[in-house]
Amino acid sequence: MNILAIESSCDETAVAIVKNGNEIISSEVASQIKTHEVFGGVVPEIASRQHCEIIDNLTKLCIKNSKLKINEIDCIATTFAPGLLGSLLVGVNYAKGLSFSLKKPLVAVHHLRSHIAANYLTHKNLKPPFLALIISGGHSNIVKVNDYCKFEPISKTYDDAVGEAFDKVARTIGLSYPGGAKLEKLAKNGNELSFKFPKPKIKNSELDFSFSGLKTAVINTLHNHKQKNKKINLADLAASFQLTVCKIINEKVEMTIKKLKMKKLVVAGGVCCNEKIRNSLKTLADQNGVEIFMPNKSLCQDNAAMVGAQAFFEFKNGKIASLNLNAVANLPINYI
Ligand code: KG4
Ligand code: ZN
Repeated sequence: MNILAIESSCDETAVAIVKNGNEIISSEVASQIKTHEVFGGVVPEIASRQHCEIIDNLTKLCIKNSKLKINEIDCIATTFAPGLLGSLLVGVNYAKGLSFSLKKPLVAVHHLRSHIAANYLTHKNLKPPFLALIISGGHSNIVKVNDYCKFEPISKTYDDAVGEAFDKVARTIGLSYPGGAKLEKLAKNGNELSFKFPKPKIKNSELDFSFSGLKTAVINTLHNHKQKNKKINLADLAASFQLTVCKIINEKVEMTIKKLKMKKLVVAGGVCCNEKIRNSLKTLADQNGVEIFMPNKSLCQDNAAMVGAQAFFEFKNGKIASLNLNAVANLPINYI
């Protein structure tokens, strides 16, 4: 089954064709980073306008590169939630138009479910149940995946998402948006033991994340040095921040693995591009006798191939959307 999938939840317009949930036939991603960089973050109105401008040509390019005929596409899928409403609406309405005109079923995909599904594209034999850690620009969640379409939220972030903390610290250091990958590069030349930053303590919800205290501590350290005219090594600062993030993530994941007695850990989301985080999670998994799965780095950040992967399982579960489908800005992963 060939699914044409669309992703437009934030600042990437993406179209892909995926066969049987785990084989990428073609995949196109048009990033808007250059546009938003000057503003230091995503401007929602500009994002949706750019999605509108490019989605049709990107879809044509994706179909051309797939070498498939239009009648070989069996199903249309789109991300419908969560995300920026104006951005989501572009993908949802374009997909509805395609589904109507081609007379093919429409499947609505939850963005976080698709991030997890990026792993089915990289690890063909991966099957639920497993524990999933989602670390992205908008989310930090641990979810128990009981089946392809059955999700049980375990923990979330109280404040900033981990990618958001990376981006905000990076911006204060002087790195342009999105700063996560640039901060990782800077940290490579730093001593991660130079600064000691706090790890969050959340009363009565020890599995939940919090990154805003850490973010503030790093930013305050930088400002204090500046006020006192003291020199600061930014690479050391970045490396120490990154190490603390690794420790926070590992601590929460280890507690959850032990509590729920899970044997498989799946990692997903843009922050999973971070080599230091990947390696520290691998070490943690080894120490706990847990099998670990992560997508290829090219599939960690927003793309449409992951949407096509999850759509296959939603379709098999009979989740066909109607042409009344609407975009939803906030929706839990275990929505009914
Ligand atoms: O999953 P994603 O593409 O979008 C969301 O759904 O949020 O994640 C984007 C996030 C950004 O915050 C970006 O800075 C972060 O992933 N990111 C990284 C790295 N590469 C991307 N953070 C840390 N280290 C990286 N190498
Ligand atoms: Zn995402």
